[in-house]
Amino acid sequence: MARPSGSAVWLRATLCACVAAAVLATYLQASSAAGARAHATRNRPVEQQGDGYVSSRECRACHLDHHATWSASYHRTMTKPATPEYVFGDFGAGELEHDGFRVALRQEHGRFFMDEREIVLVTGSHHMQVYWYETGRGRELGQVPFIYLKPERRWIPRTMAFLREPGKLRPAETGRWNVACITCHATHGQPRIGENASLDTRVAELGIACEACHGPGRAHVQRHRSPMARYAAHARGGGDGSIVNPGRLPHDRASQICGQCHAMWQFQNAAAQTRWAQEGFAYRPGDETDKTRWLFSVSRAARDKRIGDVVRDNPDYAFGQFWRDGQARVSGREFHGVSDSPCYERGELSCLSCHAMHQAADDTRSRALWADDQLHPGHDGDRACLQCHGEIARGVAAHTRHDAESAGSRCYNCHMPYTSYGLLKAIRSHEISVPTVAETVATGRPNACNLCHLDKSLGWTARALSARGADAPAPELTGDQQAIAASVLHATRGDAGQRALIAWAFGWEPARRAAGEHWIAPHLGVLLDDPYDAVRFIAERSLRALPGYASELDRLRYDFVRAPGSRKAVAPEIGRLAAARSHTQPANPAVLLGEGGALDAPTLARLLAARDHRPVTLLE
Ligand code: HEC
Ligand code: HEC
Ligand code: HEC
Ligand code: HEC
Ligand code: HEC
Ligand code: HEC
Ligand code: HEC
Ligand code: HEC
Repeated sequence: MARPSGSAVWLRATLCACVAAAVLATYLQASSAAGARAHATRNRPVEQQGDGYVSSRECRACHLDHHATWSASYHRTMTKPATPEYVFGDFGAGELEHDGFRVALRQEHGRFFMDEREIVLVTGSHHMQVYWYETGRGRELGQVPFIYLKPERRWIPRTMAFLREPGKLRPAETGRWNVACITCHATHGQPRIGENASLDTRVAELGIACEACHGPGRAHVQRHRSPMARYAAHARGGGDGSIVNPGRLPHDRASQICGQCHAMWQFQNAAAQTRWAQEGFAYRPGDETDKTRWLFSVSRAARDKRIGDVVRDNPDYAFGQFWRDGQARVSGREFHGVSDSPCYERGELSCLSCHAMHQAADDTRSRALWADDQLHPGHDGDRACLQCHGEIARGVAAHTRHDAESAGSRCYNCHMPYTSYGLLKAIRSHEISVPTVAETVATGRPNACNLCHLDKSLGWTARALSARGADAPAPELTGDQQAIAASVLHATRGDAGQRALIAWAFGWEPARRAAGEHWIAPHLGVLLDDPYDAVRFIAERSLRALPGYASELDRLRYDFVRAPGSRKAVAPEIGRLAAARSHTQPANPAVLLGEGGALDAPTLARLLAARDHRPVTLLE
């Protein structure tokens, strides 16, 4: 999402500086005089093929099935014109107001408006949608300061959709789509920054289309125009090199195609950046990315001076995306995780080992089920790992030390736990690693065991791991780490990033089952008044997942957006409700549960007083 990538840093240096200048005023006058509102596409980034790109329309006739599966994917609908087909936000909502920011939304004859400005593009179609209006300055877009959440069916202020230090995000921005979002949310985007910071932005296609992954298709289409050539190619099989098939590339090249957008890169030099500002990226699918850009993997800071320099000079940027040991901690960095995995470094793992960009003909799942995460059949489970680690299939329980059917035996739950944050949720780490207590002590990242055993301490996990001969030597633990559940320490003393992950885990069904859920509500109650918007949002969602609490939250009219004063009374009320429900449960000091179901208030207060208030801004 809003990420200060190399391009955005650059944006600040050039666009913002220039845009602020008087030049812009002149531009504004000129464009409005020209009757800027006349035609919607005139004032927004426009689709125009070139550089060998021909668009998905050209592929459909010969590849009906591939076109159909792609059409059902969220990649296709990533960025689209603001037509009734693609807009799902409620533009009948009328006036929206937050923190002195007020906009009026309306819909008229299939067109959408914010105040008097027309909405021309939308970004996002799965979890949330962002709206862009024409600014009238060339093809520059402005962002509506409210975002629509799809599952919750509600508008929230843009400032509250991210895990940001409170008060540190501007409600609205202009020009960001043209120079930042365009790099990952469109196919072959070209910002085309002209004199006086004017923007004549083009894309080969809106959304992530065929050629984003297969490369420019003109030569391929021309070659296959003749039925003879088509027949020959089909009969011969094996491809003819006129187009990239990621499935035939070595695992690293194939994964780099995804890494274009699912990773953080920097330009090789200023010339490359200048070139990009006009012509888009020089990288083409199938290339070795390093030739044109370099991967910003904090895990390699010690080995790569360029990375080391950024980490040293801009630690907030580095650690807003990565844990201290270099594991990715935000969404959209999957390629860093995958390429740091032993299975990739010493084996052939790629994104395509688990993900299927086209649903196979013999896949019996519904299209919608496939489209959600686009995994091969069964690869939402152990099959993804067992395709290479088959020997473990012979004794899963012996390996996991859990009942073979238990959630505690699923490979992903221990080796790819939910330790990344993004899109107002926790996301699976894409670095295949082994759970240790040491990682939690050294980096603050919850380990896989404690993310499910929410009621257990780090001491308990250290003992369980050393019983299996792993995680030796056990790190030294404090008294609290020995006695109190790791989740409770993170929820109370942890920083905002840790609190968000734990708030999410408190609602994760396998964890609620493993740890028992009667003690969780009061801890979520405390997080309902967290200073960080994202933490409150996630806490509310998790609490609603606990039986009986959704109606209580409705009754209390809890809303994470509302002013702090209106939230204060909620935690004690949730605490009372929880106590009334769990008064027959045995006391459990590890989760601060006292006799009669009430929280151990003095310990809670002690831990809250020790909270890590360091400002956290996660750059998803
Ligand atoms: C470096 C690549 C990159 C850039 C730049 C980028 N995004 Fe994204 N964005 C992603 C990826 C990858 C995802 C999917 C994350 C996931 O599903 O875990 C995503 C997801 C999203 C989503 C959620 C989509 C949905 O359907 O729910 C929105 C909205 C979004 N981005 C908006 C933006 C905006 C606005 C910008 C510019 C300010 C931007 N992004 C810049 C890569 C990027
Ligand atoms: C997000 C990336 C992505 C997009 C977008 C995409 N593809 Fe693909 N496509 C792939 C990958 C990866 C494979 C390799 C399949 C595999 O091995 O899993 C593939 C395979 C194919 C193949 C089959 C090659 C074979 O193995 O016989 C065709 C044909 C194809 N794609 C056409 C298209 C068309 C046409 C579109 C657009 C309508 C499209 N693709 C969009 C990633 C993509
Ligand atoms: C005029 C027909 C035609 C058009 C248009 C066409 N293709 Fe193909 N494509 C073929 C044929 C024929 C093959 C040979 C493979 C086969 O059918 O078995 C092929 C193969 C492919 C493959 C697999 C290549 C390999 O090495 O395995 C991909 C990927 C692909 N096409 C993508 C695209 C994309 C993307 C577009 C649009 C930009 C496109 N095609 C447009 C006819 C066409
Ligand atoms: C041009 C940029 C781009 C490329 C190339 C790309 N992606 Fe994405 N991908 C995105 C963005 C942006 C999103 C967010 C879309 C959404 O969820 O609405 C996304 C979403 C996804 C999702 C989540 C879908 C969902 O459930 O919402 C998966 C899985 C994914 N990509 C895998 C891949 C893989 C694997 C490849 C390589 C074969 C790849 N992507 C190539 C930009 C890209
Ligand atoms: C070992 C299997 C595996 C590999 C390899 C893998 N993924 Fe995933 N990925 C998954 C699974 C499983 C999920 C769904 C997680 C869940 O259920 O929450 C997922 C989810 C995602 C999502 C959606 C995250 C979200 O919750 O919004 C994106 C985006 C994604 N993967 C991209 C990639 C990319 C890009 C690569 C390669 C760089 C890759 N994945 C490699 C297994 C894998
Ligand atoms: C494409 C094949 C492939 C897939 C898929 C795969 N791995 Fe691996 N994995 C390997 C290879 C090869 C190694 C390196 C083995 C070696 O060096 O002996 C490895 C190493 C590992 C290691 C580290 C072993 C060590 O000694 O450091 C772990 C843990 C692991 N894999 C777990 C998993 C899990 C869990 C999954 C599924 C989420 C998975 N792997 C998916 C091929 C794969
Ligand atoms: C309950 C947690 C847990 C689950 C579930 C789990 N593992 Fe592991 N795994 C570990 C731990 C801990 C280690 C570290 C070495 C050890 O203790 O044996 C490990 C090590 C590994 C290794 C490297 C060493 C070896 O034993 O070969 C591989 C490969 C591996 N796991 C694959 C898998 C696969 C495949 C699955 C799913 C069938 C799986 N694991 C499920 C905890 C788990
Ligand atoms: C996704 C959830 C999940 C994960 C991850 C998980 N477990 Fe478990 N664990 C369970 C469940 C459920 C049980 C109950 C017995 C069963 O299902 O086998 C359990 C039981 C246990 C037990 C025995 C019961 C007890 O309370 O003494 C131990 C010890 C244990 N797990 C240790 C671990 C360790 C160590 C790890 C990390 C390597 C781990 N678990 C990861 C879910 C999980």
